Amino acid sequence: MSYPFQITSPEAYKSAYEKSIKDPEAFWSEIASSFFWRKRWDKVLNWDFKEPKIEWFKGGKLNITENCLDRHLGTLGNKPAIIWESNDPEEHHRVFTYRDLYNKVLQFANVLKNNGVKKGDRVCLYMGMIPELAIATLACARIGAVHSVIFGGFSAQSIADRLQDAQAGFIVTCDGAFRGNKEIALKTVIDDALVQCKFVKRVIVLMRTRTPISMIKGRDVWWEDEIKKVETMGNPDCPAEEMDAEDSLFILYTSGSTGKPKGVVHTVGGYMVYTTYSFVNVFQYQIGDVHFCTADIGWITGHSYIVYGPLCAGATTLIFEGIPTWPDAGRLWDVVDKHKVNILYTAPTAIRSLMGFGNEPLIGKDLSSLKVLGSVGEPINEEAWHWFDEKIGKKKCPIVDTWWQTETGGIMISNMARITPSKPSYATLPLPGIQPILVDENSKEIEGNEVSGNLCIRFPWPGILRTTYGDHERYRTNYFAPYDNLYFTGDGCYRDAEGNYRITGRVDDVLNVSGHRIGTAEVENAINMHTGVIESAVVGYPHDIKGQGIYAYVIFQNTHDDENLTRLDIIQTVSRVIGAIAKPDKVQFVSGLPKTRSGKIMRRILRKIAEGETENLGDTSTLLDPAIVDEIKMGRI
Ligand code: WT7
Repeated sequence: MSYPFQITSPEAYKSAYEKSIKDPEAFWSEIASSFFWRKRWDKVLNWDFKEPKIEWFKGGKLNITENCLDRHLGTLGNKPAIIWESNDPEEHHRVFTYRDLYNKVLQFANVLKNNGVKKGDRVCLYMGMIPELAIATLACARIGAVHSVIFGGFSAQSIADRLQDAQAGFIVTCDGAFRGNKEIALKTVIDDALVQCKFVKRVIVLMRTRTPISMIKGRDVWWEDEIKKVETMGNPDCPAEEMDAEDSLFILYTSGSTGKPKGVVHTVGGYMVYTTYSFVNVFQYQIGDVHFCTADIGWITGHSYIVYGPLCAGATTLIFEGIPTWPDAGRLWDVVDKHKVNILYTAPTAIRSLMGFGNEPLIGKDLSSLKVLGSVGEPINEEAWHWFDEKIGKKKCPIVDTWWQTETGGIMISNMARITPSKPSYATLPLPGIQPILVDENSKEIEGNEVSGNLCIRFPWPGILRTTYGDHERYRTNYFAPYDNLYFTGDGCYRDAEGNYRITGRVDDVLNVSGHRIGTAEVENAINMHTGVIESAVVGYPHDIKGQGIYAYVIFQNTHDDENLTRLDIIQTVSRVIGAIAKPDKVQFVSGLPKTRSGKIMRRILRKIAEGETENLGDTSTLLDPAIVDEIKMGRI
């Protein structure tokens, strides 16, 4: 199979880009035509950023799994769809051909149906990186249920909040998950979450770690038993539910600048077209290539570039259960070597951490299968970029630095492997259909080159989020209210003399810790739940490996307590409330915070102190108590 929409030269990129701007509807309609639709759409695009309302391919009828599975059976039925590599290097890997995957998805779709799941129902998936997570994801899509995958690192409280927000009545989980030398007791976390969520009707539990767990009568069932029931029914068929292009495919929660995570909603048609188009073009995928994206399926990167984009494109996608540094720092290179990986898509934080182990873990690893390298999630510093290029790609593999967001569904700004040039630390150029624009604080467009501003997008693309679940007004205020008639990304950005874009980081109160998005307000809320805490303020600071670290300033009641123990208690509280990924790296006890007379915390000052800048703190004359700044500076950790 070749892709009719594959861009194969710099000139073709240019002309595709021009066409996409001149006539976006004709451009996307042609691309969408190469997918399988049961009925063609009535209208390519309806949009109004003011309302806001965005509809792509409305009236078109399809099921995304028919595009990921059924339509490949004839040509790729015996070709690998998923290669799964265990956490344990000794455990045998598993391969699922397109035919195998099709059968498994249909089987589990029938399990979901038998357990009462219907079109439109929300199903929470809380599992480790095992093939059954991809199978459950696709099984939901098969029957038109809306999946909401929650990353295995989130706490019971975070899960409960998300279940409540989504009113998810069904959960698919595992007894536990393996991650390096750790075992995560997933089912126990779910049990804790469900104390608050009586509306959950069914929990389907897959056995992975054989961790002892409790199974609640009437609510919990074993995945394996349910599969057996379906098998005895004999007929594995499960016709795909006919969906409108604008029906919801999934909800994925992500952090914003308020304390409450938002449920980003993506719909079937546009998301399918955009993830597939961007997958094929950015990585320049060729049929037969092995694509290895190291993200977790619990994040958008895993949704778009482990599951949906690659499978719609008939690709071979590798799912890795483990972590890059266990049993040793050569694990990722072993996986590349063993499965002859052609495309490796990972995060700067992983690159920096592996770089720290030096060259030794690379000895004896054959990386010659690699053709393309990719980076995502945060700005990649030049040192990491060059290490990746030299030590991993041997200067023969283009690196695609892909900028995008949970909200954008797919890659927005990136070079295309071997088609458009890379530039270290630059995401470079927009994909066809994407119109970036830089604006100043007064909503004025910043034209020309060698300029910086806030990054917005001028026109809808098929992968844009359609709403925030249960709160459309939040969708409007977050993304469309800041600037007239533009989608606001929350990122700062520089455009160089050639028109290349370089993302400089978030301009809102959102942190990016190891490529994970965490709201400062969320962490503050969690810290404030500790009994002794009076008030707190959280900021990010540059961290060698994580990109950003979390720095918390805390006003605590009992100053005569053992500071170190209190600090550990606070960190433990955050871990309980949000999850281990949000643990502060530094906690400094202070007697007050720098506030203006109107009571607003001046985070700019706190950020500078956390960064180690103590001289140029800017104007502090508007502070209620300027003396507090000296105290905080003295106590810096
Ligand atoms: C934020 C989105 C979308 C993939 C995973 C993260 C930052 C993402 C890059 C990049 C510089 C990047 C931005 C963005 N970001 N990719 N290539 N260069 N920054 O998704 O959790 O929704 O976070 O990640 O700040 O806004 P996310």
